[in-house]
Amino acid sequence: MTSNLQLCNYTFPKGFAWGASTAAYQIEGGWDADGKGPNVWDTFTHQGGDRVFKNQTGDVACGSYTLWEEDLKCIKQLGLTHYRFSLSWSRLLPDGTTGFINQKGIDYYNKVIDDLLTNGIMPMVTLNHFDLPQALEDQGGWLSENIVGFFNKYAEFCFNTFGNRVKMWITINEPSIVAKYAYENGLHAPGIKESGTGAYQTAHNMIKAHAKAWHTYHLLFKEKQHGFVSLALNANWAEPLDPTSEADVKATERYLAFSLGWFAKPIFIDGDYPPLMKSSVAAKSKEQGYPSSRLPEFTKEEMQMIKGTADFFCLNYYTTRKIRHQEYAQARPSFQADEEVEEIKDPSWPISSIEWLAVVPWGIRKLLKHIKDTCNDPIIYITENGFAQSDPAPLEDAQRWEYFRQTLLEILKGIYIDKANVKGYFVWSLMDNFEWTEGYSKRFGLFHVDYNSSSLPRVPYTSASEYAKVVSSNRLPE
Ligand code: NOJ
Repeated sequence: MTSNLQLCNYTFPKGFAWGASTAAYQIEGGWDADGKGPNVWDTFTHQGGDRVFKNQTGDVACGSYTLWEEDLKCIKQLGLTHYRFSLSWSRLLPDGTTGFINQKGIDYYNKVIDDLLTNGIMPMVTLNHFDLPQALEDQGGWLSENIVGFFNKYAEFCFNTFGNRVKMWITINEPSIVAKYAYENGLHAPGIKESGTGAYQTAHNMIKAHAKAWHTYHLLFKEKQHGFVSLALNANWAEPLDPTSEADVKATERYLAFSLGWFAKPIFIDGDYPPLMKSSVAAKSKEQGYPSSRLPEFTKEEMQMIKGTADFFCLNYYTTRKIRHQEYAQARPSFQADEEVEEIKDPSWPISSIEWLAVVPWGIRKLLKHIKDTCNDPIIYITENGFAQSDPAPLEDAQRWEYFRQTLLEILKGIYIDKANVKGYFVWSLMDNFEWTEGYSKRFGLFHVDYNSSSLPRVPYTSASEYAKVVSSNRLPE
């Protein structure tokens, strides 16, 4: 096994993409600058109510709207070949529609894209990373089917405006998180709690929106622009708590179906949800007296439209779980009760400073193999991977770099031993930023951001210089 790695001398394939990722709301600030319209996170954080750590907001964040050049310095210092960032929909289209276009927003992203290209760095652009324009939320947001048309117009506008230079597009970031947190348990903006239906309805519309935008690109732009379009799926690896228990083994299959399979199967395989998901939700819905399953169905035409709408696979990997079968007695229907699993963190796994993030580097290799085997052996980009430190975070973060190193080693095994077609790796995140409900209390950055200083200085952690060495040599030191 090691010999394969020795053979390749711990070197990544030629042309491997080395990146770091960010998202508009988490870094830009300038929440109402130059004509930007509000989005759901602006509204949610401004409402207070302790739903975010110390009621912090993204109003200022890392100030990237005015400090882009500082970000560029960090990117150059790392020697990255790629940079992944997201466009703020309501900075470009303040009310979410093309009825009014904000030129200042276009100017900002033009500068980011042009500066990257001038420096030989390839932009990878996410169209929507959690921050839906508030004006569209007011019309039902992701719960309403109308969003499919709105998203398509927005996507078309972005392809038209930036597509002569941007060749790697991600339509939607982590749809399962939006579905479960924004519209099912209400922990994320806009804070809607539609237990048992919200997540499914959201995901249904997100899949259709993604697929429609993919077709728009391929029909209207591909021939001229030669780019690629996908979406970013988050997934934990999962193994049965007791591998000899049939119930746990089945629960693990369900867990993977209700997470990765929920989106990957329709989009990469056949336009439809995994059978395990369909049967579980249908059975529970029946018990609860619903006339039909709470999981919506795609029509035959929709399935045709959805299948095969990704040009590569974008994986956000952070952690792994042990899974136990668990029945939940719930007063009202819920995603959790449909899924019937309990997630367990093995006590031997170190926990990063964020409670859900157990550090399990080997999980990524298993997940890469699973994606290869179940999604038609796609080209894979790891579009996020990272480890949080608590604030205050030491600049000397040797232990964190060790986790990155182990993860990269597992990716090498995935490439050379399992033959997974991995083409790139992006650290989450370029710099510390607004970590959603955790506010600024958790730091994922390769660069430290001093929020107490008005110039928001970025200073490299040890991990940044170690990562730069890997990037420049395209190789992992043994
Ligand atoms: C995934 C999300 O895409 C990103 O916004 C978030 O900050 C990281 N995970 C860490 O939680």
